Parts: sequence; C-alpha cells; structure tokens
Amino acid sequence: MGRKFIVGGNWKCNGTTEEVKKIVATLNQGEVPSEDVVEVVISPPFVFLPLVKSLLRSDFHVAAQNCWVKKGGAFTGEISGEMLVNLGIPWVILGHSERRALLGESNEFVGDKVAYALGQGLKVIACVGETLEQREAGSTMDVVAAQTKAIADKINDWTNVVIAYEPVWAIGTGKVATPAQAQEVHADLRKWFQANVSAEVAESIRIMYGGSVSGANCKELAAKSDVDGFLVGGASLKPEFIDIINSAT
Ligand code: G3H
Repeated sequence: MGRKFIVGGNWKCNGTTEEVKKIVATLNQGEVPSEDVVEVVISPPFVFLPLVKSLLRSDFHVAAQNCWVKKGGAFTGEISGEMLVNLGIPWVILGHSERRALLGESNEFVGDKVAYALGQGLKVIACVGETLEQREAGSTMDVVAAQTKAIADKINDWTNVVIAYEPVWAIGTGKVATPAQAQEVHADLRKWFQANVSAEVAESIRIMYGGSVSGANCKELAAKSDVDGFLVGGASLKPEFIDIINSAT
C-alpha cells in the first residue's frame, strides 16, 4: 500500500485571535484533494488549539507543537499528553530543532517524549535534522540516525509516527534543500529503518521534508519518491499553504 501524503502547518509562536480566524477561514475555503489522498495537520500554539479545532474544516486535523515527557503534575508551564487527548487533539510535533537548540532537548529526552505521547494514543510528528556545520562536516546521516535511534530505543510500534526531516540550515532561511538533497537523506533514513527496525517500517513510514518549503518549490520536492509530505513553517501562515497541500497530486 502506498504512503499517504501528509502536510503539516507549524505555526510556531505566531498569531493573534484575529489572525488565527483569518488563516482558518482561508484554509476552510481552500480546494484540496480528499483526505484519502492527503492528510493535513495544522499546528497552532497551545492557546489557540481549542479555537482552531472548533473552527477548522473536519477533513483537516490539529496538532500541538510539543508536550511534556510524562504524566502531568508539578511541571510549571508544561502541557501533558493527557491534556491534549482530553481536548481531542490527535497529533503532536516532538523534537523540533528549535526546541532541541533553544531549550536543550536531547535525543534521549525526545525519545522519551515520543514514547510517552504514543502511549497516550497521540500520533507523533518526530523531527530530525542536521545543522549546517554537521552537513559540511559530512555527518548528516550520523546525526539524523542518532536522533532516530534515540526514538527507536524507546518504541516498538511506528504505526503512529511520521518523521519530519528538517535540515536546520533550511529552516526559516529561504535556503531550501534541493530535491536531490532531500531525497538522498530520506532514502538513507529508509535504509536505516530497513537495517535497524524492519523492512515493513522502512517501507511504510512517512518522511516529511521541512525547511523553507513554499508554493514555488513544493512540486519539485513532492515529486521525489521518498518525500511523503511537508512540515511547513512560514508558508503555513499564508494562502500558498493551499498550493503546498495540492502538491500531493
Ligand atoms: O516546522 C517547520 C519547519 O521548522 C520549517 O519552517 O518552513 O519556516 O522554514 P520554515
């Protein structure tokens, strides 16, 4: 069975109530392929999750941008996986490079988070990716493999996991990976799954590309055989996000 294309819109730390309503209105009017062809996941900041969920068309789904590594309790400022489930939020993005770099989330911590979130019944977009220095040093695959292994060490069932390969040097820079660069890492990741997890997971796991995806570059990237979708930052706040969803066909 083929891998269903998936497009995520990561709004990061952006938006006011009015802006959120406008973006959702644009999304709701967008003409896109059916849910059978492309899965769309919208990820606003925590505080807007209930609003977005209540206004968003029913064929699009919502994701949180993070959740706590274990059961809630005395963890000021954190949001637990249980709370997301309680609100009816089906997805969570974990291990985004901004959290790894700015908030010091280690590979192991991200692995623990993925395991806990899956255990709560959440679906996870797990982010991996190398910095420019790491790419220039020739260690892209070592870095991405170590990030993925830290997750593999904590989980057995990959059914509800999507990997987002996001080279850090491409995020928010306008410097998108070439289709060949994205394809190379996605194919290598699939080989890694084949060697370290199973042939079935290697074949079935979806690998999104993220990093300066736009309406202008999405078609060429989407044409690559191991690119199964996109995780979009800046352009997910704009009407061109509809064009990116449409690159699935
Ligand atoms: O999660 C999304 C990525 O960080 C990509 O962000 O599309 O603004 O480069 P960007």
